[in-house]
Amino acid sequence: MDKITAPLAQYGAMECDFRAIKPVVPYPYPWSFYSFFNVFPEAVLLDGCEVEPIEVEGEYDLIILGYTVWFLSPSIPITGFLRSPQARRLFNNKPVVTVIACRDMWLTAQEKMKRLLADLGARLQDNVVFTDQGKSLYTFITTPRWMLTGRKDAFWFFPKAGVADEVIDSASRFGNRLCSGLQNDEEQKDAPMLSGLGAVNVNGKLIATERIAHRSFLIWSRLIKKAGPQNSRRRNVIITIYAIFLLTLVLTVVPLNMIIRKLIYPFRKKAMSKTKEYYEQPSGS
Ligand SMILES: Cc1cc2nc3c(=O)[nH]c(=O)nc-3n(C[C@H](O)[C@H](O)[C@H](O)COP(=O)(O)O)c2cc1C
Repeated sequence: MDKITAPLAQYGAMECDFRAIKPVVPYPYPWSFYSFFNVFPEAVLLDGCEVEPIEVEGEYDLIILGYTVWFLSPSIPITGFLRSPQARRLFNNKPVVTVIACRDMWLTAQEKMKRLLADLGARLQDNVVFTDQGKSLYTFITTPRWMLTGRKDAFWFFPKAGVADEVIDSASRFGNRLCSGLQNDEEQKDAPMLSGLGAVNVNGKLIATERIAHRSFLIWSRLIKKAGPQNSRRRNVIITIYAIFLLTLVLTVVPLNMIIRKLIYPFRKKAMSKTKEYYEQPSGS
């Protein structure tokens, strides 16, 4: 976010306000196994949480909203903020640029984000996505290791966790384009400002995986929520069963699904590239 907003903040004729969305009850970092899975139902069901109100100075021409993905959904504090009366006042009729940083599964979260923004009467102008470095197989280890231990360093044959430094460095190109776009009032037009800059990269192989996973997420999140409140013994028992189920799913169904997708890809190329194109909107790859 700093890299994207730097060109805007440096441009004299533009005023930039930075606001952090802070949950009233913090989510301590690094996560423990149970604190990680305890947020699963509330994240998936978009329950949100109470957030501290932010200081707002007048009307904004453009809102750049950065968020991370929790269980194929916008993180709970972001959802909480977007469902607050303050967000309704702030976002109504405003163009919004969403900026996502996550492991590599953000498509369903962004679909949910689109609905949250539409509910606020906001207009999604652009979407920029940063995913963790390395192949899915590597980040399946490096991202949870980082979340659960706080360690981001490279080890064995695994790359460093998180978004690559050079990718973060090159993010200023989005800020430069937004700067020139705002000078020409492009934020008032119903067209993306960030096209042609490689704003998103949709991994076609993950589309079906996300759809299948999210269907199961919805069932399990209702089950876990029914079991008891956050951190209760009953909820933790169901979470343990779910975690074993999830791991089995990831180690069996996900690779199987990827192989099947690879085999049928030549026959579904056209339909697949259409779906990919849909998820790449509005800013494109
Ligand atoms: C509870 C939790 C669930 C997550 N679920 C996903 C996910 O579904 N897809 C994904 O790509 N990344 C997921 N991540 C990774 C985050 O999107 C993000 O990359 C990571 O938390 C780093 O951001 P942070 O420094 O703000 O925590 C998850 C992280 C957490 C803590």
